[in-house]
Amino acid sequence: MIIIRCEDYDEMSCTAAEYYVELLQKKPNSVLGLATGSTPLGLYEKLVEAYEDGVIDFSQARSFNLDEYYPIEKNHPQSYHSYMYENFLGKVNFQESQIPNGEAADPENECIEFDKAINLAGGIDLLLLGIGTNGHIGFNEPSISYTLATHLTELAESTIEANSRFFADGELQPRAALTMGFGNIFASKSILMLISGASKRPIVQRLLDDKIHTDVPASLLSLHPDFTIIIDREALGD
Ligand code: PGA
Repeated sequence: MIIIRCEDYDEMSCTAAEYYVELLQKKPNSVLGLATGSTPLGLYEKLVEAYEDGVIDFSQARSFNLDEYYPIEKNHPQSYHSYMYENFLGKVNFQESQIPNGEAADPENECIEFDKAINLAGGIDLLLLGIGTNGHIGFNEPSISYTLATHLTELAESTIEANSRFFADGELQPRAALTMGFGNIFASKSILMLISGASKRPIVQRLLDDKIHTDVPASLLSLHPDFTIIIDREALGD
């Protein structure tokens, strides 16, 4: 595990963006695993700027998103589909992008087809992850067992609570999601985790204490041979 310490959110986002510029220069047809949430917004902004300035080109690259609420309409303002197109995919030029379909009539089959598409693309070169305040990655919530493939899963109460800020009062909030599993995550050649802000401090302490905690899904990533964390001072608490 490599830890890159940054002064603040902006430096974290710039440092992450440099990773992508380098990767796509080296391998223009990279397969990127992408994440949602508030943490990667700065990275996406920097990548859109780099694309507009001609510094990065995604025309040969493909992307697969980590997760999506289920059920949710693609054009719901809080769907991860909407988030991705508003903040990133709609502003750059990926050859192909796939996001688990929150409208799928048969979610199990959707997950099987999603994993087939990842394999057909040659697997993920660089998977971007955030971390939940409860240690989840994607929607792999703390549990005594973890599913390997992309799957339909119930959200933890703490996740529903954390994400309720995005839904209007009285609006139906999804209680389940389609998410890549630990098999997909570990099969990714490289993993890049972004962590920012004081709210992540308690979970960061457990992530970085040189132990694997079965109730902190992200801590299992320390077993991955190419796992990098870019973290800001507020999250580190130093
Ligand atoms: P956040 O979400 O980036 O909004 O903190 C991260 C996550 O829940 O994985």
